[in-house]
Amino acid sequence: MSLVQWSDRLSVGIDDFDREHQQLIAMLNDLFDAVQAGRGRDALGEILNRLIAYTETHFAHEEDLMRRSGYPGFAAHKREHDTLTRQVRDLQQKYHSGATTMLSTQVLTFLKDWLMTHIQGTDTLYTAHLTAHWPR
Ligand SMILES: [Fe+2]
Repeated sequence: MSLVQWSDRLSVGIDDFDREHQQLIAMLNDLFDAVQAGRGRDALGEILNRLIAYTETHFAHEEDLMRRSGYPGFAAHKREHDTLTRQVRDLQQKYHSGATTMLSTQVLTFLKDWLMTHIQGTDTLYTAHLTAHWPR
């Protein structure tokens, strides 16, 4: 079973970003499956690391294009990225230090809700601007 399923309503209308969002969702589903299957701490830690690393790469990609295209909503968008990055790094550190013994459903729900709200809300705001001012 998947935690999140991709559908057209998650599309931001920019192929590169849709592909990256699909990849993020696939990784979140992998983490969910591993939790459900009761996989060990190290395995979960590795999947969590991969998900966080990919999230940061994806954010950097969006930010680069927003900045280079002169997107007026750049600062606010970046703030949202920075807040999530801080939150998940904190979580990652706690997990690896053993302060959190398991990845709870709460953590997965947090990531899922954040991702869905961000993609369908904040991300869709850049579509018109980026489509019209795609940097070369
Ligand atoms: Fe974003």
